[in-house]
Amino acid sequence: MRTLLVTGAAGFIGSNFVRMLLDRGEQVKLVAFDKLTYAGNLANLSDLLKRHPDKLVFVRGDICDAKAVEAVWDQQGVTEVVHFAAESHVDRSILGSGPFVQANAVGTQVLLDVAKAKGVEKFLYVSTDEVYGTLPEDRPEIKFTEETPLQPNSPYSASKAAGDCLVRSYFHTFHLPVLTTRCSNNYGPYHFPEKLIPLFVTNLMEGKKVPLYGDGKNIRDWLYVEDHCDAIWTVLNRGRFGEVYNVGGNNEITNLVITETLIREMGRKWDDCVTYVKDRPGHDRRYAIDASKIENELGWSPKYRFEEAIKTTIQWYRDNESWWRAIKSGEYLKYYESQYGGR
Ligand code: NAD
Ligand code: TYD
Repeated sequence: MRTLLVTGAAGFIGSNFVRMLLDRGEQVKLVAFDKLTYAGNLANLSDLLKRHPDKLVFVRGDICDAKAVEAVWDQQGVTEVVHFAAESHVDRSILGSGPFVQANAVGTQVLLDVAKAKGVEKFLYVSTDEVYGTLPEDRPEIKFTEETPLQPNSPYSASKAAGDCLVRSYFHTFHLPVLTTRCSNNYGPYHFPEKLIPLFVTNLMEGKKVPLYGDGKNIRDWLYVEDHCDAIWTVLNRGRFGEVYNVGGNNEITNLVITETLIREMGRKWDDCVTYVKDRPGHDRRYAIDASKIENELGWSPKYRFEEAIKTTIQWYRDNESWWRAIKSGEYLKYYESQYGGR
């Protein structure tokens, strides 16, 4: 039986990945390993833990703690790693880069060392398109390819690039069976409401304003989270070791257009809702992915269209108000405090 150590499985994409594999009935055992930082939320997994006690276990732990990783590896019989765990919010990395270097660079190194010592069968690192830096907005023909040089501009992307380079080095130096995916911005259910789409959707539901950075003309290549999870599963099963695969939605949209779409869907008016705020320092202008490698080599392409998937996403936040209200009120952190006593 394949046993996947899924780090960061209580976060946005990790929990969607676990959910997708269990819903599809894939023949794998999943070990959700997560430190439960402010961004990790057991509520993202609780129904799955009840429904699939034989296929999913949750272990609270820190990827920077080699002993904890070794223990879960031995106890659960881990064979493969899918590594999502990270500090993931650019704005927080600007306020303080220490936790980002620790989790994203040191954490990845610790995980690689344990994986090497234990003889891992596959190690997939979930990287980001942000490692490539930024693209000019007036040259739409230029996109990130896997050969684009790494030029990270934020402490977040720099720490992800550090992890990315370490993964590469363990392939070349130690022949570790690694795979790397570099994905564009995701959206969908269970997205922590500090990121653009869930923050704006929930603010609009609360009757609050939405803070648009700078002129709002920054461009991201939006991808529905299930398409990303499907790409990761495809690369894990059929990707070539040592290779990088870009994953994108072929769906470049400015923040202005995202904001207009959300306001329209929520039945609100622009002038009542939008506040232009000071721009993010070092704000990357444009991200766009050339995903032809994964499409041609592995036959993956995105299935969801933004126009429909954004409606599904908004509806999910309408149907799961208690989920995001608990986060915004900090209730779930109080629960961890009582459950785990601050550990
Ligand atoms: P998230 O912030 O929602 O979740 C991160 C999870 O990692 C949380 O559950 C957190 O508790 C856990 N974690 C953090 N530090 C840890 C540690 N030291 N040990 C164990 N667990 C720890 O992030 P996300 O949006 O789900 O992103 C997942 C991965 O995908 C990240 O590596 C991110 O860089 C990458 N990625 C995200 C996007 C996106 O649009 N969200 C796009 C491309 C790549
Ligand atoms: P974000 O969701 O933080 O993802 P990333 O910075 O990793 O791409 O932000 C997406 C875009 O939205 C980015 O251009 C910054 C912008 N943004 C705002 O304008 N206002 C906000 O409150 C946030 C969180 C983001």
